[in-house]
Amino acid sequence: MSSILFYLNGQRVVVDTPDLDMTLLRYLRQTGLTGTKLGCGEGGCGACTVMVSRYDTLTSQITHASVNACLCPLATIDGKHVITVEGLGTSARPHPVQERIALLHGSQCGFCTPGFVMSLYTLLRNKPNPTEHEIEECFDGNLCRCTGYRPILDAAKTFADVAWKQGTSVLADGTVHVAEAKNNSGGCGIEECCQLKEKKERANTGCCKAKDSSDSGCCKLERADSGMAECVNQAEVDKAAVIAKFQRYDPTQDLIFPPFLIRYAKQTTNPDEPHLCSLDIVSSDPQSWCKRYLRPLTLTGLLEALDQNPDAKLVAGNTKVGTEIKLNWSKFQTQIYINDIPELRQIKETTEGIEFGGNLTLAALEQVLDEFGTKYGVKKTQSLAALRNNLRYFAGNQIRNVATITGSIAVASPISDLNPTLLAAGARLTLASANEQRVVPISKFFLGYQRTAIQRNEVLVSVFVPFTSEFEVVRAFKQAKRKNNTIAIVTCGLRIKVDSDQRITDAAFAYGGVAPTTVLAKEAAHAALGGKWGDKSVLDSVLAACVQELQLDYAVPGGMAEYRMTLVASFLLKFWATSCEQLGVSCSESVDHDDDLVVSKARQEYARIEDRAIVGRGVAHLAALKQATGEARYVDDMPALQGELHVGLVMSPHAHARILSIDGSLALALPGVVHVLAAKDVPGENHWNVFKDEEILPSDIVHYYGQPVALVIASSQKLAQDAAQHVIVQYEPLPAILSIRDAMAQQSFFAETRQLVNGDVDAALQSADLVLEGSSYCGTQEHFYLETMGAVAVPKGEDGEMEVFASTQIPTEVQMTIAEVLGLPASHIVCRVKRLGGSFGGKETRSILIAAFAALGAHHSDRSVRISLDRNEDMQVSGQRHPFFGTWTVGVTHEGKILALRARVYLNGGFSHDLSIGVVEHGLAHIDNCYRIPATDFAGRVCRTHTQANTAFRGFGACQGMFLTESMLCEVADRLRIPVETIRQLNLYQQGDVTPFSHQLNSDWNVPRMWDQLKAKAQYEERRLAVDKFNRQSTTRKRGLAMLPTKFGMSFGVKHLNQGMALVHVYMDGSVLVAHGGVEMGQGLHTKMAMVAAETLKLPLESIFISETATNTAANTTGSGGSVSSDLYGYAVHNACRELADRLQPYRDRMVGEPFAKIAMAAYLDRCNLTVTGHYCTPDIGYNWETNEGQLFFYFTQGVAIAEVELDTLTGSHTTLRVDIIMDIGRSLNKAIDIGQIEGAFTQGQGWSTSEEFLYSPTTGRLFTTGPGNYKIPTAMDIARDFRVELLEGADTSALKTIFSSKGVGEPPLFLGASVFFALRDAVGAKRRQEGVEAPLHMESPATPETLRMACEDQLAQMVKIPQALKDGKTPFVIRI
Ligand SMILES: Cc1cc2nc3c(=O)[nH]c(=O)nc-3n(C[C@H](O)[C@H](O)[C@H](O)COP(=O)(O)OP(=O)(O)OC[C@H]3O[C@@H](n4cnc5c(N)ncnc54)[C@H](O)[C@@H]3O)c2cc1C
Ligand code: FES
Ligand code: FES
Repeated sequence: MSSILFYLNGQRVVVDTPDLDMTLLRYLRQTGLTGTKLGCGEGGCGACTVMVSRYDTLTSQITHASVNACLCPLATIDGKHVITVEGLGTSARPHPVQERIALLHGSQCGFCTPGFVMSLYTLLRNKPNPTEHEIEECFDGNLCRCTGYRPILDAAKTFADVAWKQGTSVLADGTVHVAEAKNNSGGCGIEECCQLKEKKERANTGCCKAKDSSDSGCCKLERADSGMAECVNQAEVDKAAVIAKFQRYDPTQDLIFPPFLIRYAKQTTNPDEPHLCSLDIVSSDPQSWCKRYLRPLTLTGLLEALDQNPDAKLVAGNTKVGTEIKLNWSKFQTQIYINDIPELRQIKETTEGIEFGGNLTLAALEQVLDEFGTKYGVKKTQSLAALRNNLRYFAGNQIRNVATITGSIAVASPISDLNPTLLAAGARLTLASANEQRVVPISKFFLGYQRTAIQRNEVLVSVFVPFTSEFEVVRAFKQAKRKNNTIAIVTCGLRIKVDSDQRITDAAFAYGGVAPTTVLAKEAAHAALGGKWGDKSVLDSVLAACVQELQLDYAVPGGMAEYRMTLVASFLLKFWATSCEQLGVSCSESVDHDDDLVVSKARQEYARIEDRAIVGRGVAHLAALKQATGEARYVDDMPALQGELHVGLVMSPHAHARILSIDGSLALALPGVVHVLAAKDVPGENHWNVFKDEEILPSDIVHYYGQPVALVIASSQKLAQDAAQHVIVQYEPLPAILSIRDAMAQQSFFAETRQLVNGDVDAALQSADLVLEGSSYCGTQEHFYLETMGAVAVPKGEDGEMEVFASTQIPTEVQMTIAEVLGLPASHIVCRVKRLGGSFGGKETRSILIAAFAALGAHHSDRSVRISLDRNEDMQVSGQRHPFFGTWTVGVTHEGKILALRARVYLNGGFSHDLSIGVVEHGLAHIDNCYRIPATDFAGRVCRTHTQANTAFRGFGACQGMFLTESMLCEVADRLRIPVETIRQLNLYQQGDVTPFSHQLNSDWNVPRMWDQLKAKAQYEERRLAVDKFNRQSTTRKRGLAMLPTKFGMSFGVKHLNQGMALVHVYMDGSVLVAHGGVEMGQGLHTKMAMVAAETLKLPLESIFISETATNTAANTTGSGGSVSSDLYGYAVHNACRELADRLQPYRDRMVGEPFAKIAMAAYLDRCNLTVTGHYCTPDIGYNWETNEGQLFFYFTQGVAIAEVELDTLTGSHTTLRVDIIMDIGRSLNKAIDIGQIEGAFTQGQGWSTSEEFLYSPTTGRLFTTGPGNYKIPTAMDIARDFRVELLEGADTSALKTIFSSKGVGEPPLFLGASVFFALRDAVGAKRRQEGVEAPLHMESPATPETLRMACEDQLAQMVKIPQALKDGKTPFVIRI
């Protein structure tokens, strides 16, 4: 057959001779089902998750699996039922999963939301009453960059079989109330009810009753009219009210598996009529990479097909093959799909062990391993249990649902999780060809880097795993950059067998990640034989042999030589301790048990809004339901226009080089390629960006690896990208500077300097009791918005006019730059933005270049041109957060009072200015963080390097500046032997103090109050004692605690940017259209603006509509950033609406009780102008850096956080146990949205300072971390197990002149995420004290597992240290810049 048949959302689909290169994702999107998103194309983000159901002829059962559509070839869908997010519900009639995620604030930008919806939906299809644990685990393959996961988890857990919250309920009449006290001890039923606490404690929580002399009752039961309304936790009440309205989940209403497909599956596998290859498709497209696709349904059919096509690529789960095609441009001309062969999924149980059919998916394997564990008992199933343990942290659900055991083995990856355990277990592999079948011990299978014993015409049929004997122990360990969904750094399977005398009779120590292939440490095993397990001397000799045998070179591919060796030793130690325990052998070393990740919980707290109709309420994001149902459109979801073309990038393979020639003739010869464009093809101004120091396309010099040098314009994206490989560019390589340290050494700086000097620093340093010098470094951070950058440019055919739909935060600059590039007046260009799938600063200036590429293509072709970057392209060209290095000299008293600070800071700006000067200014202006420092001298410079231009990122330099000070305070505290929190508290600014940039803090300064409040409420002191106690009792696991304040200055440093404009129309039917200059990128700006408009116009929220941001409705706008959009556009909208309200008031007065539609019509008939523009300029600001005069910031958003962590000092892995945050955000415009911003920003800050490491090759300047595979943002498993957020209530807002006294919130909480870093530092300190390490602790950010493990400096780390002599002259594999 050459056509495929499947069902899509309940509808039958037949595709004749399908495109053999097409993935399911591309197919869905081309057919208009754009709810399924492309976030990475490599299986790492889950944005493309769909549910695939199939009928299994082996078990006669229907299975439902979440699958990454980006790695699923379309042809493999034959006979299956695909359900996408559109198949569930619509925004008018959402599925309960969609409704709950949307209305409980689980969708911000919404780009990840369909993926989360589908993961949860699949879980419910398989298990309608899941546990909370199962719910958390079902998201292990989904990434979200906006929400911090908490609201998604909260929403999902409403499906769990536990009450959502015991204390809050909704009565039959719909009113929400907090439950009555349940017992005699009082208490409202809420977990933290003040009545369950001692009076002293209660006073600290701010409980109103504790202040009350009667001290009786429970404040949380009080109603608003009691005057104690602020004590009611409105967040819980709001949540309960929303939950009360949810539809019940009824699984019988879900789409059924089409009975036809059961018949279809049975027909195609009928043994009487064997279709040896039920699909045999020959591509009709000469440009197709895959020319022939075969799908046998029997093993015989497979072996015959392979015999006839010995060069064919076998495809099982396609998770490796698919990524090779996508990322390495591998072309496999003949492919044989083997995953539908039932025989290859069989399991045979024998007396010796279990034989697993090779094509068992890893998810199916997990399930059967659980069953065998129960059936055969612990002793016999040691190896099986170790494999099961491996699978816990193997990729995400979507990968495990399709990837197979044999796929994993055949890839022969040196960092495979399963292979070391199989090797240690002594597994045997059965290989078959058309002529013979043979069994190969796995120890003879791996021949070298990705080389195995499989012959050209052979198939790996099954894997046999022997049972273990009574005195045998097998364990598997893995350490990766992140806990889950991450390939290992080092992995191992360790086995030991002892006799009744505990003498070792057999041992196998198999490691991955220390050689080009999985290896057995044979010398170590030999050293163990005959020894007594449990004897320290045996351990020492095994460790020594293992380390000696697996020694890594400093420059080893993959880097981290010392860390990897430490892991080798640490795993052995862990194994020794746990196996001794299991065998009942006593051993001297104690190793703490690994923690089991507990289910997370969370709490949000805010008070009731009394005086406003709409503003302040926790209204859900207005587009949330559209986002959860896949209806919301992002730029690449726009349907293709007739004749549309695509852009492919020709990217530089050098970090710094002169372009000698560009030859596009080979690319142009490919049918469908329309243009190859280079610098000479720019019709107008090729220079762009703030300082006009970048070229749209380089005319002479390339400045970073990956820089787009030319563009291919072609009929499809795949063709354009493919053709780009055929453009021949000749270069003359030039020397490159990559890192800050290199730039400093070579004095490679941009000319501008900034300095802030106050007081006599030298004199203050002289008077100090202690002067300390040091440095701080924090690395780059990638924005990792889930929607990569893209644009569609549509020429209008007249006067050069062009409409550009762009994924940008900065539409006006896109308009202006494209006008200049094309040599047109700005009036001829319209930039339109519906929404962004996340941004975080990354789609400010850098998005302009991408939109300009599309415009250039459209200009030359006079056709609509689309660009949508792949994740790896995006990460290479888009610019990141500035890496930061700072030196400091601080003078303090014995008590820790800071007297003076001199700081010199250097940012890595990359190759162009971009916004770096602003970032350095912002950085300098935040070095003080929340501390009064009488004498300061802060100066900063931007390094010019040959890397992409670093750019705006949430926090905009401020978090780097604050990091310098906070890490400095830690070092000061260590030196003074005073808790760093004491020093922080001692130095906090008080009202009336003046900052280094001459800002006097007024009644709006709330950090000291929040510090005290949180410290008491989160029981900091008690927990500190508990942490210390834990650390005394625990050897290898250490806990850490940190409390961190932050303030964030609000306003753009460039004065003219502090303005906003809006345009509001009231139509004659009473509907209202608001347009303003701010861009909706998930932060809920449009929702807030609609609330401001509704409040001001005194209309219901539903009557306000915001369609998009466009430069023809809101001109000369400021980009959305700096967390000031709701300030600027809120006032602009308010000003316009106030004027409209004034104009309408006479009609309202005359027509009391009439609907607004009638009032609007009356005003229109009366010739009243119902269109108003609103404008707003932030008052009072304007700062002079030369004179240190004027006001730099309008106000400060402030907060305090406490983080508690637990660190495994043997591996560097950690768990964030608890986080408490309090934020002062004035009188919030929307409390639920703002809490979402706090949680999301905190999590992003946590990622910045812990797991997110951006690495470059020091030799080529090539970026090594180009996707979710090797760049690790936090997952749902990484967030605090107990995550509490509270908004400061009752603060004096009289000094705030902002819209409705609110404060911007997007960026300020980000730095608080670094509290996790500092808590980890605290834990490392505890370990070092235990080890007696005297040297000062200096830790750079991010605190990756490697950083943390090595900082512990225990004996194992010392043992594997590579001597300096062996490092000299060698270049590390990767570097931070
Ligand atoms: C996002 C992501 C996360 C991952 N995380 C992890 C992880 O945490 N730990 C880990 O160890 N690995 C991880 N991997 C790698 C993963 O193990 C492999 O991609 C997967 O196991 C391959 O299985 P597959 O069935 O998809 O193989 P395919 O991609 O279909 O095939 C892989 C190779 O095996 C060959 N092959 C397949 N079946 C047979 C057979 N029966 N006989 C002979 N040759 C065969 C194919 O020809 C091909 O060369 C991850 C991969 C991705 C994409
Ligand atoms: S797009 Fe498929 S997993 Fe990211
Ligand atoms: S809402 Fe999850 S990525 Fe934006």
